Amino acid sequence: MSKLRPPANRKEAAGVMPEVLQRLERHLDRLGLSELKKSLDGHLGWAQERKPSHAEFLERVLGEVAAIKRERRIERRFDASGLKVKKTLEAFDFPFQPKLDRAAIENLATLRFVDTHEDVLFTGKSGTGKSHILQALVLKVCEREQLVRYARCVDLVDALYAGLADGTYERRMKWWCRPALLVIDDVGLGQLKRRDDEPTAAHMLFTLLDRRHMEASTAITSNIKLSAWGKYLGDTTLAAALLDRLAANSIHIDIDGPSYRQDLARRRAKEQGLEQPADEAQA
Ligand SMILES: Nc1ncnc2c1ncn2[C@@H]1O[C@H](COP(=O)(O)OP(=O)(O)O)[C@@H](O)[C@H]1O
Ligand SMILES: [Mg+2]
Repeated sequence: MSKLRPPANRKEAAGVMPEVLQRLERHLDRLGLSELKKSLDGHLGWAQERKPSHAEFLERVLGEVAAIKRERRIERRFDASGLKVKKTLEAFDFPFQPKLDRAAIENLATLRFVDTHEDVLFTGKSGTGKSHILQALVLKVCEREQLVRYARCVDLVDALYAGLADGTYERRMKWWCRPALLVIDDVGLGQLKRRDDEPTAAHMLFTLLDRRHMEASTAITSNIKLSAWGKYLGDTTLAAALLDRLAANSIHIDIDGPSYRQDLARRRAKEQGLEQPADEAQA
């Protein structure tokens, strides 16, 4: 008994004329919709099977185009944020950090604080997940298609010093003022450079935060005591003024708990039968 030959592909099954298909693919190339080229077979097969109305078919295909375009806009926002790796709150192990108020973090994840222009301050030892949480919030802002920037404190200050050197300081300052959310990670980590004739990091950060204050949200992490900011930023008075601004309108979360990084190192060492690393000195 001879078997019926199965259709060579679903396009053939969907009864589309080859020249129409060719033109369709050319249109998609010109529109830069290579993703849709891949799913075209599926759409045509679905139409063949379900016999939708013209409007239903159009809605299905344009729905995918809209989703592709949105995904690209989110990616562009993420690329512009300055982050390289995507972290999510879904990947955050809350039971590992039992003293951390999970509801407070989930509240931050609604991004209401961005709408109300509140600032956020995360303090705690190294490895407790401060950066992870803020990086997850950056991703959420990207998903809302708003402008967001992330920088480590030393890099931000370096960028502003570079602006002093090449006459672009004001332009750079405005650039950092623009995002709906600015994350300044790791205040207290890394050496801040300065020449005697230049303003202090405290001056720059104060100017930036003062301009953004009540206009747009700034989220900061620090693993040094707030009382040590003056020494670190090079100006006790301005650092105090900066902290005053933060105290007036910010959500402060202190993560008092173990270092995930150290725990991971311990688990790895254990797996490999190596000696377990001792606790890092606390900041
Ligand atoms: N509770 C957690 N669940 C999952 N991963 C975590 C958790 N805490 C920290 N990490 C991971 O451990 C590493 C160090 O965390 P990080 O957020 O950089 O700490 P911090 O900024 O407080 O020094 C990162 O890779 C982060 O993703
Ligand atoms: Mg960090």
